[in-house]
Amino acid sequence: MRLVALPVLLCVAAVAAHAGGVAPNLSRNGRSAHVNYMTECQGCHLPDGSGQKGSVPSMKAELHRFLTVEGGREFLVQVPGSANSKLSDADLAALLNWLIPKMGGTAADGFQPYTPEEIATYRSQRLVDVTGTRAALVAKFDQPETSSVN
Ligand code: HEC
Repeated sequence: MRLVALPVLLCVAAVAAHAGGVAPNLSRNGRSAHVNYMTECQGCHLPDGSGQKGSVPSMKAELHRFLTVEGGREFLVQVPGSANSKLSDADLAALLNWLIPKMGGTAADGFQPYTPEEIATYRSQRLVDVTGTRAALVAKFDQPETSSVN
């Protein structure tokens, strides 16, 4: 059975790759973005996004800054807390589209919502060096940031 199924799976993967993208997972778990944040994220990020000094950076009025630098939009999806969550691409899109404006900041005003397709694409590109990538993005911000991971 396994031997029969494998070529079929490889074939499906090849077709998906040939189509030039990853198929987004559009299933929804039926929970609002806020509830998904409460169950999947706030254990580390806290209910108000303020994080934990020394280990989890504050997102309050900070998250939007990533949107102002090249690669930042991708980073918000590729960071392990987002990318490795059990949320589908559609639920993660809804969560980030709720969270980013909620955390405030000027770039959040003109924020273009993520589509599930965009989430699927960014998620398929794994970040090898999370800390290094984050530091490089933060270094491109206009003002020094107020919180740091270290
Ligand atoms: C186990 C703790 C933990 C959980 C759970 C977690 N995060 Fe995070 N998150 C972090 C840490 C630590 C960082 C800083 C970057 C890094 O080292 O991963 C971070 C960074 C981020 C960032 C980028 C902001 C920045 O300043 O780096 C976003 C966006 C984010 N997380 C979203 C989420 C979302 C959405 C969820 C839930 C689906 C989530 N996180 C769950 C720990 C967590």
